[in-house]
Amino acid sequence: MQFSVRYIVLFSAAICVACAILVSSSAVSLYDMQQSNFAEFKQKNVLEAAGFIKPGEVVDPAKIEQMMSRVRPCLIDTKTGEIIGGDDGHAAAFDQQKAKRDPTTSFPVDKNAARVKRVPNRAQIFEVLAEDGSVEMVVLPVEGYGLWSTLLGFIALDAADLTTVRGLTFYDHKETPGLGGEVDNPRWKSLWPGRRVFGDDGSVAIEVIKGPAGPVADDPYRVDGLAGATITARGVSNMLLFWLGQEGFGPFLEKYATRIGAKEAA
Ligand SMILES: Cc1cc2nc3c(=O)[nH]c(=O)nc-3n(C[C@H](O)[C@H](O)[C@H](O)COP(=O)(O)O)c2cc1C
Repeated sequence: MQFSVRYIVLFSAAICVACAILVSSSAVSLYDMQQSNFAEFKQKNVLEAAGFIKPGEVVDPAKIEQMMSRVRPCLIDTKTGEIIGGDDGHAAAFDQQKAKRDPTTSFPVDKNAARVKRVPNRAQIFEVLAEDGSVEMVVLPVEGYGLWSTLLGFIALDAADLTTVRGLTFYDHKETPGLGGEVDNPRWKSLWPGRRVFGDDGSVAIEVIKGPAGPVADDPYRVDGLAGATITARGVSNMLLFWLGQEGFGPFLEKYATRIGAKEAA
């Protein structure tokens, strides 16, 4: 059977329109679910940084919600370091990435190795509470450029000194699996707890080196590099240097150390 050119063109156009409608309506209808899954994934990463969940452990949403009862989101003023809100639902729903993109809710920063261009006026941090309600850890969001992408993650610091790492996780990046993607490898992540981010003079001292570092007790400021992925590894060092420094959470950590009575101010 022979079809006319007009028939073929119209038929193809109709198929394209039908497929476009199908794909876009699925994207729109699944948007809320995607957002809620992403929010849950972020929460899981906060809990993983805090050591409540082991890297790669499968945890059901009810358990995540239960564990999140020990985590208190707070909003801070990034310039002054003051806590300006917490525990009222507002801090939990804060979208820091959106705030960072909006010039009315963020400010530009000088060129830096982490390639951070803007810092939000307000940032979302998390206090992790011990059984007795005291602050056990503080979890800070960190981000910076690797080789192909901006890595978004969390670092948990022990509230006792605000310098000992309790954990580091990344919840979003596009580094190459097996190379830069090894930032998600549980073995590499297990090298972080116990390392120290600030040196004795208070400056950021933590660094991912090329090659192996020593054990935590002997080599607290250095972490093993990622074989074949020095650029991503350097990106991790750069982002910690930025976010723990004065343009990032430095002012907050200084004020917070006094507030919670951490032994060593950052
Ligand atoms: C296809 C491809 C993907 C790569 N992905 C990464 C990556 O995600 N992160 C990274 O640091 N290096 C990646 N590299 C390697 C870098 O180009 C560079 O060689 C490496 O970071 C140097 O690390 P090394 O000194 O440990 O070999 C990739 C290379 C290729 C060819």
